[in-house]
Amino acid sequence: MAASVDASSSSNDRMKEVKEFDESKMGVKGLSDSGITSIPQIFVHDPQTLSDLKPSSKPTAAVIPTIDLSHITSPAHRPNIVDQVKAAAKTFGFFQVTNHGVPVSVLDKTVNAVKAFHEQPHEVKAEYYKRDEGKGVMYASNNDLYRTTAASWHDSLQMWMGPEPPNVEEIPEVCREELAAWDLHATKVADDVMELLSEGLGLERGRFKELTFSDSRVLVGHCYPYCPQPDLTVGIKAHTDPGIVTVLLQNHVPGLQVRHENEWLDVKPVPGGLIINVGDFLQIISNGEYKSVQHRVLANSRKESRISIVIFFNLAKWREDGYCGPLPELLSPHNPPIYRDFTPQEFLENFYGKGIDTKSLIQKITIRN
Ligand code: OGA
Ligand code: NI
Repeated sequence: MAASVDASSSSNDRMKEVKEFDESKMGVKGLSDSGITSIPQIFVHDPQTLSDLKPSSKPTAAVIPTIDLSHITSPAHRPNIVDQVKAAAKTFGFFQVTNHGVPVSVLDKTVNAVKAFHEQPHEVKAEYYKRDEGKGVMYASNNDLYRTTAASWHDSLQMWMGPEPPNVEEIPEVCREELAAWDLHATKVADDVMELLSEGLGLERGRFKELTFSDSRVLVGHCYPYCPQPDLTVGIKAHTDPGIVTVLLQNHVPGLQVRHENEWLDVKPVPGGLIINVGDFLQIISNGEYKSVQHRVLANSRKESRISIVIFFNLAKWREDGYCGPLPELLSPHNPPIYRDFTPQEFLENFYGKGIDTKSLIQKITIRN
């Protein structure tokens, strides 16, 4: 039989399996709870992805910076905090913040509420299972399930919190109050960090707010349940986040890794800490000053689920001419634009045209290095 016939029949089989898994609405949590000892083929990643799946073991490995925000209102301390945020956003694209003003009890309640959602019985969760990525509330396994070449070992509850918050009744009751509260707290932290990032570029403190970077946001509560074959799949595959800034809260189960100088670094959960990372749009508008960095989550080999809650902060209003690009006030003959301007259509077509990936939009619009 010709190879091409083989390839297309196996991709049909794969699509059939993907559909069956999706229609079962059981998610990977359901598969895991059913006691399976080997994972379905649709979750098996390519050999290249599988070749370096391990925790970073070198004792000398770098760690992403932790920045203490306790004195951000003090004129004596603020410049130093701005410098730390700027340096972290330039070199690692990732940092943790502590003393950000959110009580530990709120962090714990948020994690527990998302965990409680994912631990509900199949019949209860199946009611919420649907794919409606661009708005409202959705719960599904692998948002990019039908676009990606291999599925990953996580389920997600996603809700758009801005510009329009969802109807309250749409949010599952077990986590309704907690996630509404989390949205307010995390947005306050994001606003504080965006002010620091704005100052780090030599701009007015309020410039990012003016540019509406915290108005459009989507909250995602991920669950990475126990995976019986963590060497054959990933929790979430290597990618960069598309938006401006991401705020991430995780429980104590490890797995998140960040790419730095050709190595994968483990992001160790810091008690009470929140993780912040730069997205592709921030790299673009800063004309490459801040870096959007690749990260991934290893499949969870522990019995306890790994839980993370991310909020992606996006651009709400595009420029009056309909485009987005490097901020003009950052450009000069010495700092010419390295990216061309692009439209929302270009962004959406690129994003929904394939599974999550690394900087594909940035690659498309780069005009000089
Ligand atoms: C993401 C992501 C990491 C995590 O949702 O984009 O990178 O720890 N999540 O869940
Ligand atoms: Ni991400």
